Amino acid sequence: MEYQNILYEVRDGVAVITVNRPDKLNALNAQTLDELEDAFKRAFSDESVLAVILTGAGEKAFVAGADIGEIAELDGMRGKAFALRGQRLLSLIENGQKPVIAAVNGYALGGGTEIAMACHIRVASKNAKFGQPEVKLGVIPGYGGTQRLPRLVGRGIALEWILSGDMVDAERAYQVGLVNRVVEPENLLDEAEKIAKRICANGPFALRAALEAVNRGLAVPLEEGLRIEADLFGACCATEDKNEGTSAFLQKRKPQFKGK
Ligand code: COA
Repeated sequence: MEYQNILYEVRDGVAVITVNRPDKLNALNAQTLDELEDAFKRAFSDESVLAVILTGAGEKAFVAGADIGEIAELDGMRGKAFALRGQRLLSLIENGQKPVIAAVNGYALGGGTEIAMACHIRVASKNAKFGQPEVKLGVIPGYGGTQRLPRLVGRGIALEWILSGDMVDAERAYQVGLVNRVVEPENLLDEAEKIAKRICANGPFALRAALEAVNRGLAVPLEEGLRIEADLFGACCATEDKNEGTSAFLQKRKPQFKGK
């Protein structure tokens, strides 16, 4: 697929996907959703890619939301399909078998906060702004905001943000656990790449298993989650990576993982 609204590049095993509509503050229109879906599928199926970074072009915005021009045209039927379309992309990211880091470089509003929450780790620049302002437009978050935000920051804070539509800065997002760390704008991509590199040094099979254990475990009661963890721990113990990782430790050398 030829991309018009995103950039895609792979550097040292890390795919960097950049939403590239800076004149529209990287708002997610239908074309951009299609391109992002293609790019994430490409990154997840490329064996040379071990981790993914998602960011926005320009200095002002990560993603300023779903495209309000498109929302303006929706009726009830198409509104539901619109929400399901965005949710499908975000579930693809969240359930992907490779770690995805959001590097949030400015406004992350509505669909911007939502797509960042579907990523596994969030790094924000000091000028990042988060929020779910949909009620100001007469709608509610439709790309998972009513579900992922309370799971990440708790029900009270999530409801305050969703009902008020207020924006919060990176420091507040950090205080409540929405972002993992806050850095100077000029260090944002470096910091995301450093985290990706540390992750890429680990066993790829174990990374997939860890993502699966956390994602599936959070959707079920604790006892069931613990069974999922034990199954996946067993699966890891049957891999060459586990033999390599433990031997390397005992032989005091760096492991050479193969993802098998
Ligand atoms: N959808 C479509 N276009 C958007 C957009 C969105 N979510 N967010 C910004 N844009 C467009 C603006 O319409 C403007 O386009 P134009 O130059 O053709 O008029 C351009 O991006 C720049 O935005 P502008 O509003 O002029 O920038 P600003 O610095 O004054 O304000 C924001 C920045 C983020 C506060 C403001 O753009 C905003 O509130 N955006 C909508 C955020 C939102 O409600 N998102 C949730 C959508 S469900």
